[in-house]
Amino acid sequence: MTARIIDGKAVAGKIREELRRDVEILKAKGVTPGLGVILVGDNPASISYVTAKERACEEIGIFSDDHRLPADTPQKDLLAWVARMNADPKIDGILVQLPLQRHHDEEQVLLAVSPDKDVDGFHPVSVGKMMLGQETFLPCTPHGVVQLLIHSGVKLDGAHVVVVGRSNIVGKPVANMLLQKSPTGNATVTICHTRTPDIGKFTRQADIVIAAAGKPNTITADMIREGAVVIDVGVNRIADPLRKSGFRLAGDVDFEGMLGKASLITPVPGGVGPMTITMLLFNTVMSAKRRARGER
Ligand code: GUN
Repeated sequence: MTARIIDGKAVAGKIREELRRDVEILKAKGVTPGLGVILVGDNPASISYVTAKERACEEIGIFSDDHRLPADTPQKDLLAWVARMNADPKIDGILVQLPLQRHHDEEQVLLAVSPDKDVDGFHPVSVGKMMLGQETFLPCTPHGVVQLLIHSGVKLDGAHVVVVGRSNIVGKPVANMLLQKSPTGNATVTICHTRTPDIGKFTRQADIVIAAAGKPNTITADMIREGAVVIDVGVNRIADPLRKSGFRLAGDVDFEGMLGKASLITPVPGGVGPMTITMLLFNTVMSAKRRARGER
């Protein structure tokens, strides 16, 4: 079997085009969607994420209110920025880029974001609603994975999905979304993690493997069955002196090895990555629609 490569950029582009039209309609009603972004410190990966998010906002007409704060910003100042954005009616979504600095209390900052503007879907209220299957902001990377599967025509109803990784940002929420009693769920879900002996024993039973372990080469071809769908959420920086940047990106999956065995596979980069930012735009537009309806 030769795997078809899922073009995340193309799917993301299609959704962003729909969002761009939604933004035009909102603007005609006098509502310009606004995203408040807080970035603390100078972590290169975070700067690159935030820059990409701002560029994506601009492309579809979302106004982005960007605050880059020094690494020694006190916790109380960070909380004051969040409070200011909570109170600003022009801001529909608030994004505090993670990880914060070691001296910050991340949990307290995420809790301070109003659930009405929690476009990252990290607030306990959002997480609780997601788990209960209620309408809410869904976290962007797992939501991007689900949308990528749906847009690629993958049947989720009754499928056995094995998620490798149990992070709060990807593993736990993607497993939860896929098991919901809903047309975008209805899967049987198994979660493996660092303490699972013989992960291959589980992944070999999967129709769909979602790799979110944060370690290159965690999933190799001998660990999947012929024709499985493989979604690689890993973003690992591998030192590469031949590149100008000094690194290349690799996922958690042995991509080359899978090409002769999987039916569908996402590349890294160009798979899940473009979907994460797209779902952030989706949540921000959804929040602006609520404002336009007078619900906030
Ligand atoms: N850091 C890595 N991924 C994310 C994300 O999706 N949202 C935020 N706020 N920070 C991140």
